[in-house]
Amino acid sequence: MEEIRVELEERSYGIFIGSGILGSIGGKFRKYEFSPKAALVSNPTVYGLYGEAVVDSLRNEGYEVTVILIPDGEEYKDFLWAYHILSRLLKAGLDRKSAVLALGGGVIGDITGFVASTYMRGIAYMQLPTTLLAQVDSSVGGKTGVNHYLGKNMIGTFYQPRLVWIDVDTLKSLPKREFLAGMAEVIKYGVIWDREFFDYLVTERERILSLDPGCLTHIIGRSCEIKADVVSRDEREEGLRAILNYGHTVGHAVETVTGYRRYLHGEAVAIGMVCEAEISEALGIFDRAEAAEIKSLIESYGLPSTAGDALEADSMLKAMALDKKAVAGTLRFVLPEEIGKVRIESGVNEDVIRGVIGD
Ligand SMILES: NC(=O)c1ccc[n+]([C@@H]2O[C@H](COP(=O)([O-])OP(=O)(O)OC[C@H]3O[C@@H](n4cnc5c(N)ncnc54)[C@H](O)[C@@H]3O)[C@@H](O)[C@H]2O)c1
Repeated sequence: MEEIRVELEERSYGIFIGSGILGSIGGKFRKYEFSPKAALVSNPTVYGLYGEAVVDSLRNEGYEVTVILIPDGEEYKDFLWAYHILSRLLKAGLDRKSAVLALGGGVIGDITGFVASTYMRGIAYMQLPTTLLAQVDSSVGGKTGVNHYLGKNMIGTFYQPRLVWIDVDTLKSLPKREFLAGMAEVIKYGVIWDREFFDYLVTERERILSLDPGCLTHIIGRSCEIKADVVSRDEREEGLRAILNYGHTVGHAVETVTGYRRYLHGEAVAIGMVCEAEISEALGIFDRAEAAEIKSLIESYGLPSTAGDALEADSMLKAMALDKKAVAGTLRFVLPEEIGKVRIESGVNEDVIRGVIGD
């Protein structure tokens, strides 16, 4: 089992990654001396696959576990379902020393973290992520939240988990398309931080795609390490943390313009990473051959590198300006300077963006 630390002084925590570790969460949980009443939040899909192993493990350690399921889907990551979970916690009698566990993908992790941050002014929560995206991204770093009908993730908090417990075996049941979408975020870490890791993703592609547990532990571990490093230096996204948004300025606009239906988040980020590399190239910041390497790696993982004719420049620019990451309407891009190093650039000329996105 690999352990990675997120260093945030008194809020520091460990990320544990291994194969077949889900059923041993109880022993780990015991070390925290929480109240005997705990809750597990999940959805029927994930709970049906892994719920019993987790609940049995906690019950074997003497915990009384309330299971709270919400329907499966992004549309349920909202205030009403958060309210529902809060009500269940109150009815079950969880107290300020209780802990909540999130078992599932980013939707479950985000809403559970949000609930934990507000229940009795904040109780402990643990992440047991079961999608690749959640394992390498959403479960680490403490961004929690729910959607509002006026915008995604518009309501939320920064609230760190006590522990992240990643069992790579859960990826065996994940639909292939979801796995590949998670790979977009993994590739992102290589581009923004680590050339050697990028090369590993090129050379070990087949083993990764065959879900070799050693390879998975390595790529998830390295991704978490990079995210942990960035978050430790800038927890609240006042500076450095913004580099994690590489591919996301264009990616979010792609999701908006296509009504969140055509692409999974990671797929839109893949398109965004290629566009933003090309913007960097057009500005003379980034080498053409390296931009081509990014595109080729993305395509080699079966991810889209372009949205074809789906993107119309005016709508894309409008969507980018409305993004919550735009500050006072100024667009900010994370642009590669070389693979493994990026910079944040504001005020990129609109014509350059149009030139890359096309009309
Ligand atoms: N907090 C953050 O920093 C952060 C970062 C990125 C994304 N997010 C959020 O994450 C969410 C997306 O997360 P996601 O991509 O994990 O989607 P998701 O949680 O909707 O999971 C995708 C699908 O896979 C299913 N599933 C999960 N694990 C499975 C498994 N092991 N086997 C079979 N099926 C499984 C789920 O039930 C769901 O149907 C979005 O709401 C996004 O806003 C948050």
